[in-house]
Amino acid sequence: MDCDVKDMDLVEKGRARIEWAEQEMRVLAQIRERFDKEKPLQGIRIGACLHVTTETANLIRTLVAGGADVALCASNPLSTQDDAAAALCEDDDVRVYAIKGEDNETYYRHINAVADFHPHLTMDDGCDLVALLHKERKEQLPELIGGTEETTTGVIRLRAMAADGALAYPIVAVNDADTKHLFDNRFGTGQSTIDGIIRATNLLLAGRAFVVCGYGQCGRGVASRARGLGARVIITEVDPLRALEAVMEGYEAMPGREAARVGDVFVTVTGDVNVLTREHFELMKDGAVLANSGHFDSEIDKAALSELSTNVRRIREFVDEYRLADGRRLNLLGEGRLVNLAAAEGHPAAVMDMSFANQALSVEWVVQNQKGLEPKVYGVPEEIDREVARLKLAAMGVEIDTLTDEQASYLTSWEHGT
Ligand code: ADE
Repeated sequence: MDCDVKDMDLVEKGRARIEWAEQEMRVLAQIRERFDKEKPLQGIRIGACLHVTTETANLIRTLVAGGADVALCASNPLSTQDDAAAALCEDDDVRVYAIKGEDNETYYRHINAVADFHPHLTMDDGCDLVALLHKERKEQLPELIGGTEETTTGVIRLRAMAADGALAYPIVAVNDADTKHLFDNRFGTGQSTIDGIIRATNLLLAGRAFVVCGYGQCGRGVASRARGLGARVIITEVDPLRALEAVMEGYEAMPGREAARVGDVFVTVTGDVNVLTREHFELMKDGAVLANSGHFDSEIDKAALSELSTNVRRIREFVDEYRLADGRRLNLLGEGRLVNLAAAEGHPAAVMDMSFANQALSVEWVVQNQKGLEPKVYGVPEEIDREVARLKLAAMGVEIDTLTDEQASYLTSWEHGT
C-alpha cells in the first residue's frame, strides 16, 4: 500500500493497541458487523483527514468493512500515533500519510496525497482537507458527493464557507450531534486534556490556580476534571451567559489579565485566535504552564512568547521552557498544539465510540441520500443521534424506562391544567 508513516516496525504495537481500543468501542463494532454484511459503502472512495489514533483506526476499519476505499492523513502535525498509522497501513489496505511531528510542508503534502486519491467523500477534523479542495483543487469538486466534519472549529469554517456561497458539496456536521459534542467535547476533552498536562509535566494539580480560557463544552469538561483533582479553577469568558453558568457552577470568573497574574496552569479551549498574548505573558508568574486544547495552535501567541524570550529549551519531552528577559520561565506544552493529543492519547476510546458511530452512520446517510442533498451544512439526522445513544446505553448494560401510553398522550395534549 502507498503509505508515508514513521516506522513499519511499529506494526505489532499498533495492532495490539488498536485491539485494546476496540474493546471499548462496542457501538462502532455493531455498525462494523452490519456494514460487513450490507456493504453500504461499496465503490466509495473516502478521503479522511483525522487525528491518526487507535480509535480512528477502528473507524477506518468500519468504513473498509462497509466496502469503502480509504486514504487517511493527519489532521494535526503532532497528533499521530505512529504505531496505529503503521498497523493500518499493513493490515487494512488503507493509504496512510501521517507522521507524528511532521513539519507544515509534510502536513500539506500528506493532505494533497489524500486529494490525489480523488475521494468521493471527505471526512475532516478541522476542515483542512475541504479547504484545500475548495482553494487549490477546484477541478475535483464535481467528483465529491459529500462529507462529514468532526469538530467545532471545522463546523465554524464550513458555516463561513456556506454563508459565502463557497461550499460546493453537502457536509454533515457530526460535531453537532448531541451524542458527539455533549460527550466527546466534555468528557473526552476534559479527561484527556488533564491527562496530557499531567503526562507532560507530572505536576500536582491540587491547590493550584488552574485557568480555563473558554467555557464551551470542552472548557466545562476541563474545568470539572481540574476541580476534581483539587485545583482552584478560574474561568475566562467573553460570553455573559457562559460566564454566569461558570460562576453558578462555583468557579471564579475574571478577565484574562487578572487571571494571568494568579494562574499556575492555563488552558485555552476557545477555538479562537490570540487568547493568551504578550499582555498576559508579561503578567504571569515564574513557572506558569501554558497549554492549548483547541483545534489550532493559534490560541497562545507563540510568536510573542518567542519575542519576549532570551532563551528557549526543551526541558521535558512536551515542555518548552521560555526564559523571559526578566528571568521568569513560562512553560509551553506540546508547542501550543492540542495538548491532549500531543502529550497524551486524545479522547478515550469509549467516548470516541459515539463520535465515530455518528461518523460511520452519517457517511452511510450521505451515500444513501446523495441525490437529494444540496451543497450546505447538514446536522446529523435525529434518528442517527438517538440510535447512537440507544446502542451506547445497551453496550454499557444500562436499561431505561419508556413512557406509558397515558404519559405519551399527556405530552401531546393541551387540555390538562391545574
Ligand atoms: N480527537 C480527540 N481525541 C481523538 C482520538 N482519540 N482519536 C481521534 N480523534 C480524536
